[in-house]
Amino acid sequence: MPGIVVIGTQWGDEGKGRIVDYLASRADMVVRYQGGNNAGHTVEVNDIRFKLHLIPSGILHPGKICVIGNGMVIDPIALVEEIRYLEGYGIDVKSRLKISDRAHLIMPYHKLLDEVIEEHKGELQLGTTRRGIGPAYVDKAERIGIRVCDLLEPKYFEEKVEQNLKMKNEIIQKVYGKKGFEKGPIIESYLKAAEQIKDMVCDTTSIIYEFSKNDKKILYEGAQGTLLDVDLGTYPYVTSSHPIAGGVCIGAGIGPTLIDSVVGVVKAYTTRVGKGPFPTELLDKTGDIIREKGYEYGTTTGRPRRCGWLDVVMLRYAVKVNGLSYVAITKLDTLGGLEKVKICIGYKYKGKTITDFPASLNVLSECEPIYEELPGWEEGISDIKRIEELPENLIKYIYKIEELTGVKVAFISIGPKREQGFEIVKLF
Ligand code: GDP
Ligand code: IMO
Ligand code: MG
Repeated sequence: MPGIVVIGTQWGDEGKGRIVDYLASRADMVVRYQGGNNAGHTVEVNDIRFKLHLIPSGILHPGKICVIGNGMVIDPIALVEEIRYLEGYGIDVKSRLKISDRAHLIMPYHKLLDEVIEEHKGELQLGTTRRGIGPAYVDKAERIGIRVCDLLEPKYFEEKVEQNLKMKNEIIQKVYGKKGFEKGPIIESYLKAAEQIKDMVCDTTSIIYEFSKNDKKILYEGAQGTLLDVDLGTYPYVTSSHPIAGGVCIGAGIGPTLIDSVVGVVKAYTTRVGKGPFPTELLDKTGDIIREKGYEYGTTTGRPRRCGWLDVVMLRYAVKVNGLSYVAITKLDTLGGLEKVKICIGYKYKGKTITDFPASLNVLSECEPIYEELPGWEEGISDIKRIEELPENLIKYIYKIEELTGVKVAFISIGPKREQGFEIVKLF
């Protein structure tokens, strides 16, 4: 029953899609377990750059079953669009995609609330993707959410929308001074989307369990990253779900005994979209060089990503909270051409050295990184085909990460394409 979890160890965009794509060739099933279309997973296949938001990256491998788990929040209109987008490339989605009947729906008022709440926060805004993710999870916890199974019962769905609109319109109009929603257009567009997806809706927990029991290989694809986890991330500058490995059990509806190993995806440097403290952020020319060379612009919103050096304080925290078995390092090519590369090995805070990632954002925002400097390596390494031909200093950088995190490196990536990487440990 091999079950491998792939998660982000930083603030998202580590290259999870690329790593899942590499492992998916040998998997039988790929499951997303949290988040929604705030995620943007890019996978390059034969010069086509696929951008996936809701559908697991495994869909790009013919024959693999893909699951949208119960822990996700789904905007059905966006889902139908994504299915069409993939079908436009001749990819068969409908026979392979399974959508949890227990997943919650993102409603139009969630998107509006995401926007107006952000605006209302002014200086304190988080810089969300404005996809309605937070407000949808709030409704789930408040027990007024609408689920995929409700969408398949039109009369009940209509009643639930009506009940919710009564509350939401009050808030939208009276607190935020915006125009409320009419029931009709919501029902019409959502029921139209329901027609498109209904044959894919099922109890996904049973399918995952059956696959596990029959020794099929299952990959669990995390979205966002450890530091964006609502419990363990840099709260409140986080998303509203559980991207960490533990989130798999709840979001896919499985027990921990079905997980064999956890792979943490580590970008060779750090990036962050949205607000919040970032100790190793580079606000100088080096930061700009990394952004341009790594094309660090959001897959979902197009926003420039903040860039900085690799932070091992953060990585060691990710090792602990995810119980990492291995790491996969991406974008090593992006750092090529820099004379020196730095790794943050600790923080200086009020004259003391800290090596544990702090909970308090006030502490974190005052932390000064303590760096270890390593010699850089040359540019243009993406087409190297033999691991022995990789620059010596790049290999030293990888060993250094292994040494500092205490976790074995299983895969290294030197470009976005399928062939631009090296497997060090065979996971499946
Ligand atoms: P995800 O959200 O974790 O799946 O990551 P994103 O797709 O948002 O961002 C990662 C970006 O880096 C994508 O554009 C990938 O195609 C690209 N990428 C992944 N691995 C590598 C790599 O090793 N080198 C380079 N240059 N790009 C990579
Ligand atoms: P992938 O899966 C990077 C960030 C947003 C914002 C915060 C909250 O591609 O790695 P939300 O819309 O979730 O309420 O926004 O989380 N964020 C991401 N940053 N990668 C992502 O996904 C992200 N999904 C959300 O920028 O700071
Ligand atoms: Mg992304």
